[in-house]
Amino acid sequence: MCGTPVGSGGPSREARKTVTSLFIDIVGSTELAERLDPEPLRELLDRYFAACVSAVGEYGGEVEKFIGDAVMAVFGASVTREDDAVRAVRAAAGALGALGALNADVTASHGVRLEARCGLCTGEVMVITAPDGGFRVVGDAVNTASRLQGAARPGEILIGERTAAVVRGHVGVEPVPRMRLKGKAAAVPAWRVTDPAAGERDGPGTPGAPLVGRDDELHELGHGLRRVRDRGQVCLVTVLGAPGIGKTRLVGEFLATLADGAAVVLRGRCSAYGRGVTYAPLAGMLHENWAGLAGPVSSGSEAGARAVRTLEAVMAAGEPAGVEEISWAVRYLLEELGGERPVIMVWDDLHRAEETLLDLIDDIATWLLDVPVLLLCVARTELLEIRPAWGGGKPCASTLELGPLTREESARLVGELAAHAEVQSHEHRDARERIAVECEGNPLFAELMLDLFADTAPGPVGTAPVSIGTAPGARIPPTVHALLSARLDQLPDDERRLVEMAAVAGRDFSHDTLRAMAGDEGADVAAPEVVNRLLRRRIVQRVDRENLRFRQSLLRDTAYAQTPKAHRRRRHLFLARGLGRDGEGRLAFACHVEAACHLQRDLLPGDTRLPDLAPHAAGVLIEEGERALRRKDLPAAAALLERGRALLGAGDPRRLAVALHICDAWLGMQDAERCLAVLAAEESAGGDGRRTRITCAIQRCVVALRLGLAPPEAVRADADRLAAELREEADDDLIWCRYHQLRAYLHLTGESAGADASLRHALARARAMRDRYEEDRLLCAICEVAKWTPGRLGEGLELCAALSARFAANRALLVPVLVTRAYLTALAGRIGDARRTLGAAREHAGDLHLDLADAAVLEMSGVVESLAGAHDRAEELFRRAAAALRAAPRAPDADTAEAAAARELFHRGRTGEAAAALDRLVRRAAGPGLRTRIAVASLRGRIASAYGRHDEAVAMVAEARELSGPVDDPCLAGDVLFDAAVVLRAAGRSGESADAARRAAGRYAAKGATLLVSRVERWVDGGA
Ligand SMILES: Nc1ncnc2c1ncn2[C@@H]1O[C@H](COP(=O)(O)OP(=O)(O)OP(=O)(O)O)[C@@H](O)[C@H]1O
Ligand SMILES: [Mg+2]
Repeated sequence: MCGTPVGSGGPSREARKTVTSLFIDIVGSTELAERLDPEPLRELLDRYFAACVSAVGEYGGEVEKFIGDAVMAVFGASVTREDDAVRAVRAAAGALGALGALNADVTASHGVRLEARCGLCTGEVMVITAPDGGFRVVGDAVNTASRLQGAARPGEILIGERTAAVVRGHVGVEPVPRMRLKGKAAAVPAWRVTDPAAGERDGPGTPGAPLVGRDDELHELGHGLRRVRDRGQVCLVTVLGAPGIGKTRLVGEFLATLADGAAVVLRGRCSAYGRGVTYAPLAGMLHENWAGLAGPVSSGSEAGARAVRTLEAVMAAGEPAGVEEISWAVRYLLEELGGERPVIMVWDDLHRAEETLLDLIDDIATWLLDVPVLLLCVARTELLEIRPAWGGGKPCASTLELGPLTREESARLVGELAAHAEVQSHEHRDARERIAVECEGNPLFAELMLDLFADTAPGPVGTAPVSIGTAPGARIPPTVHALLSARLDQLPDDERRLVEMAAVAGRDFSHDTLRAMAGDEGADVAAPEVVNRLLRRRIVQRVDRENLRFRQSLLRDTAYAQTPKAHRRRRHLFLARGLGRDGEGRLAFACHVEAACHLQRDLLPGDTRLPDLAPHAAGVLIEEGERALRRKDLPAAAALLERGRALLGAGDPRRLAVALHICDAWLGMQDAERCLAVLAAEESAGGDGRRTRITCAIQRCVVALRLGLAPPEAVRADADRLAAELREEADDDLIWCRYHQLRAYLHLTGESAGADASLRHALARARAMRDRYEEDRLLCAICEVAKWTPGRLGEGLELCAALSARFAANRALLVPVLVTRAYLTALAGRIGDARRTLGAAREHAGDLHLDLADAAVLEMSGVVESLAGAHDRAEELFRRAAAALRAAPRAPDADTAEAAAARELFHRGRTGEAAAALDRLVRRAAGPGLRTRIAVASLRGRIASAYGRHDEAVAMVAEARELSGPVDDPCLAGDVLFDAAVVLRAAGRSGESADAARRAAGRYAAKGATLLVSRVERWVDGGA
């Protein structure tokens, strides 16, 4: 490439160019000529010239001429490259290096040493190219380079100011005292090259200043870790602060201070790109360390194997375990790891986390006892907008708010950064001082301002040169955004275009992606050399060989915002096409299409058409939302499903089901307003008018019933009206699935057979739709209802067995199944079996911190103990269940448990206390449910009877029988009848009593409740 002729024939061409000129000369050539015979001298010089020419050529320079023993080379004369100056420095170093090798050869044979020195200068010159390709260069840069060469010491490379400004960051340089050079009026600033290959070795983009300040904060983190270790306790430390203030850096420095093996460190980061993927940061954290984690966790136990399965599912984003199960598995992991050493869990950028992930961390901080874990949460201050009480109420929690650096620290930081960037001259002191003030103590701003300044200093050839003396303060915009924009505005077109492409790809992107995007646009901007320039400018950094990252997310965001929307839209779609709808990239695929849709709406508000990929992207988001719904991650489910729905066209058949599932998620969060809003939105979106209207009406009834927005009678009337319309929709599984569920809810007050039948109809419809989420829900409900249905309990037990297997990996669903199973086995007289089942249920509920399930287990334990005749134990359990229910938010009322506790008091012979408890209950209960009213009346009858007030007693049991008329639960009916039998016998009405007892036994027998049948029989026979 060296000396490539630019053309031949014709006249000379002249051009004004910025070049770097290099002079290399031998030191003491006169003495050399004196000492050597001309023949070996000639040979020696030939080898020296050859080495120089070869070094210059290797770096793409051209030798213009030889002046005596000096070599004059030029970089950038016929071909301009942005890094000509760096090339020139490296060529000079190469030549000096070659000379070293030559010396090793000739010192022994000839008894001499060749020594050379170099001078370089960058500047505008005239390049005159002769028709034969030879050229001449004229300009001050040439003379100055020659003078600098003359001033250099043997083996030294001296460079001028502009060369220094361009090569900083790639080449190690240090300033030397200003030089008086022959022919120059003023003293000339100059730099000595200390390390010609510095930038190559460090890898571009890595330099940064050493940590400035933050001693107190580091100390505090260290203190947190000591506390964790010494007390064997979980601590939550939250590092909060503005963007760029140094949160991530602080944590990184803290971790770097730890001795090897001092702690197990797990690091996760929430990315804006993983939006909606609740556990992505956890998955990342596990992935990175799984080889070292899986072993200690599994440890041969059943619980360990369960935890490993759950965590592996999180990493694989496979079939979701429930939210509680995941939380338990993480706590289990920490317990195992924390046995050996403290564990540090770093959660960076937590302000981007999904609610459920915040809950997970909160849960660890609250529930993990006696395990040394430091939860190091790093977030921008907006975390407190999402969670104002973050960290509050924890036994060990602190918040570290990172403020700005002090003025003195800022000055030190700017000094360090400038030193690193080799921008060191005296003129720059002014600029540095201004940056130190204007960065407002924010290290990122300081870095950006300095970069901005450095880049507006005479930059790479091809960018507009600015006098290096210009103070940057005048150009530094006041706001960050402006600062970042200014940084981007400075970029040459090709770099700017590449940055804009990368910004659409995300904060992280690969070379391949860039190449593909550039190829698509017919641009040649993804060339390695453009990427390299961005690396050098510290806009991007290397993650590994293939992948790059914007150094600051703010920079990426700004570049994105500055890109015309039409370009962004096109690029998002291009990226989406490349990603495909399946596999790992499917969420990214969906996000790109989603972004394109939003942009399209902005660009063409009147055009309702969606890109052809939209339905597929919607599918991905909906699928992800359904998974969140199945694991009961309700906030994520609602958000993902909403996003999916927004990508569905008006006529898309999936719309309605998605709207219902969104409504379900809000229903689970007891947000009536949002439930109704989704339905209203779906109705107004049109679609299949009648179908939508009916389905939404059904769902509104469900919401009204479940959230108590309307009295059940009113809902029943609405449901009846809807039934008439439904006849025409016989084949519509979705409508019928929901309608049957509504019916089941309406039946639930008393007619369990009706509820069971409705639920089974709904289940058949759900199966026809292959809706696993609905199936699971319905199976759970059928199982719970099996406690009360008139069916034989054997069938209920079979269902329990099947569901125990089905829900093995999601214990939140398993617990209610076990509760039902315990009840049915106790009724069948197998008390020991029932107790064991409840023991397992209690353990699962405890593991997963399922408050409500815990209360349900307590209540059922009371039932079982009562059946076993252990009334004191039963009373205590009912009282605890009632207290737990009263304490839990969103719990059903505690009335039934309280009524049951009163009954146990009565059985223990504490009749007066039982009566008082009932009075309290009736006074307090707003409108007790039917089952409670029945229980209260029946017990009142027994109490009155015990006091000998037989008329009142008979009246009360009669009332209980009347009330229980519509209730088809055989055991409840049996209980009421049995109480009546007892009361009637005491009242001397033995014929009626015997009749009631017989009927009670009949009811119990119909259920298969052998334990209760024999209890009645014993009583009839004169026993207790
Ligand atoms: N005390 C410090 N001394 C020297 N450099 C620092 C210091 N604090 C931060 N920096 C540098 O400033 C830049 C921004 O810091 P960092 O990325 O830690 O900010 P952040 O608070 O985590 O920002 P974000 O909210 O965007 O994540 C980094 O290049 C970092 O190395
Ligand atoms: Mg950060």
